[in-house]
Amino acid sequence: MIIMSVVGARPQFVKCAALTEELRRSYDQIIVHTGQHYDYNLSEVFFEELHIPKPDYNLGVGSGTNGYQIGQMLMSIENVLIKEKPELVLVYGDTNTTVAGALAASKLHIQLGHVEAGLRYLDRSMPEEINRILTDHCSDLLFCPTKTSVNNLHKESVSQGVYLTGDVMVDILLRQKKIAEKSNVLEALGLKSKQYLVVTVHRAGNTDNRENLKSIVDALCQIDQTMVFPIHPRTEGALKRYGFYRRLKETNKIKIIKPLSYLDFLKLMNHAQKILTDSGGIQKEAYVLKVPCITLLETTGWDEIVEDGWNVLVGANKAKIVKMTQEFEPRGKQREDFGKGEACKNIKNVIDSVLK
Ligand code: UD1
Repeated sequence: MIIMSVVGARPQFVKCAALTEELRRSYDQIIVHTGQHYDYNLSEVFFEELHIPKPDYNLGVGSGTNGYQIGQMLMSIENVLIKEKPELVLVYGDTNTTVAGALAASKLHIQLGHVEAGLRYLDRSMPEEINRILTDHCSDLLFCPTKTSVNNLHKESVSQGVYLTGDVMVDILLRQKKIAEKSNVLEALGLKSKQYLVVTVHRAGNTDNRENLKSIVDALCQIDQTMVFPIHPRTEGALKRYGFYRRLKETNKIKIIKPLSYLDFLKLMNHAQKILTDSGGIQKEAYVLKVPCITLLETTGWDEIVEDGWNVLVGANKAKIVKMTQEFEPRGKQREDFGKGEACKNIKNVIDSVLK
């Protein structure tokens, strides 16, 4: 029996690494890489480090508008599906790759499983929000990381095939945390544990909006702490386009570096004093690592972290970013909403019961 995973962007490689390992013993697997992320730092390094089998297909779609990316992927994935005839297609998260894989499989009436189903930011201006909704509504198996995500689906009348499994990113984080400690990333960057902030920005709402990006840059320049900023190519491009790059680069306390591998980044997060990010995955990883998170978005899919007092939403508001970076301290005891590292097992059990 063949299970096909469709991946294409950095966080999907991580999620897929966790699950393909669990499924390996029982199923033949095919990995399709759409090519949405193609830089070595955003793609290949994850396959190497997390021992993910090389993709059976690389569709080489690359960059472009949302319509271009999804359209090209849809056509190419359909061809692979027709050729390989898998019993089940798995898609991950909320990227353009996710929705393309979902549409291709469901139009061919192939069973579709969505890993990380039910997340909602309640902000339809995010391309990812449309991807989440469409993917969930055409999935047969919806693997939800949290109770909130199950409830979100119920509110949209999606109740068949919904499973609370826990979070696959937590599985891999717990497995790799010790190994990541061997990384020498702190020494290489001249950092001391708990004496720096980690910054990441890549959401279209922040990078493609000059005002928002300016406000974030202004805030970073005002914060008087050592910061490490592994920069996404989208963000580097936008900073250069708007003329902000040099100002940021010349600010001595901000270390702008290339995107890091999974293990280096895990160690960097684990030893950070705080994390400033607009990434969904990093908000959750920060929580599991017990690092306070300041989220550069107005809404989040991980409300439980905010309710627990470990995450604060500041959007792209300069004053709030500066204030919260100085003052925010977690107040709540952590609830274990993301599972204890058994999500992949739970997902496999569901797949076993459906396919056998
Ligand atoms: C995508 C996902 C986002 C996810 C993120 C993880 C969508 C709509 N967005 O955002 O949900 O959190 O990946 O990183 O699917 N680029 C490169 N090299 C690469 C890849 C991209 O230079 O390897 C540049 C290109 O200029 C491209 C831009 O980054 O146009 C944006 O890439 P894209 O894949 O559209 O979205 P991300 O911002 O990476």
